[in-house]
Amino acid sequence: MSDRMHPQRPIEDWPDALEAAASACRHVRRVQLLRETASTQDHARASGASAGTAVVAFRQTAGRGRLGRAWADTAHEGIAVTFVVGDRPPESLAMRSAVAAATAARTFAGDAPGIKWPNDVVAGGRKLAGVLVERSEGRALVGIGVNVLQQSFPAELAPHATSLALLGAACDRLDVLAALVASLDAALEATDDDIYRTYRGLDRMCGNRVRFLTPDGAVEGTVRDVDPLHGLLVDTDAGPRFLPAATTSVAPPASVSRYGGRDGSN
Ligand code: BTN
Repeated sequence: MSDRMHPQRPIEDWPDALEAAASACRHVRRVQLLRETASTQDHARASGASAGTAVVAFRQTAGRGRLGRAWADTAHEGIAVTFVVGDRPPESLAMRSAVAAATAARTFAGDAPGIKWPNDVVAGGRKLAGVLVERSEGRALVGIGVNVLQQSFPAELAPHATSLALLGAACDRLDVLAALVASLDAALEATDDDIYRTYRGLDRMCGNRVRFLTPDGAVEGTVRDVDPLHGLLVDTDAGPRFLPAATTSVAPPASVSRYGGRDGSN
């Protein structure tokens, strides 16, 4: 542990604290804590965990990100959790989980964290947390990774990644997880209108020039409007263009195949 790091509670403290967080929830009913796993997403899928279960890793070694990218080893610096929830439209879940992750991050880092469509949590233009929503046998697996204690990142990631610690937050990973359990529960409970309004208030993409990948090829322009349930309105050099959420993604920075974590192991 670096001498700059906020003291961290040991794994023995995690079960009771996480059960206490879940006991106040409607949508998170039980927590399965793994000392180490490759991917909480894969564990939740393979174990057939039922809706209401949160699969938490004390360390996740080979997480998966969106669009086939990797989420690097959390070591004991990031958090990794998969919430198993009842099936809902993927855009709604993506919107709700992004709001939940940003809200938890803001508990520790103030107003800086916001959302880069569709569901990256960013601060100062760098990625702080990522969300992966997958479906499996009538359930949805909402995987969330947050960079918490990292003081630095490998050169390839350094320009694109940040952590709560780098944003000046002194925190225990367990407290961030407990806050995330509560905020995810609240986001699943909220009305569509409320969560939609909150998402748009947290938007960090409007006004930026962004390159998107679409079925028609790359499209670049200044984002005029973000509607998390439907798509984006982008001012391109050829005029305004609507990009549907279902078939559009943000082009990654050329060097990045993974975000978060500590070293180059995956
Ligand atoms: C992304 O930004 O591309 C999404 C990253 C999602 C990472 C989380 S960590 C917990 C869960 N388990 C995984 O293997 N992936 C998600």
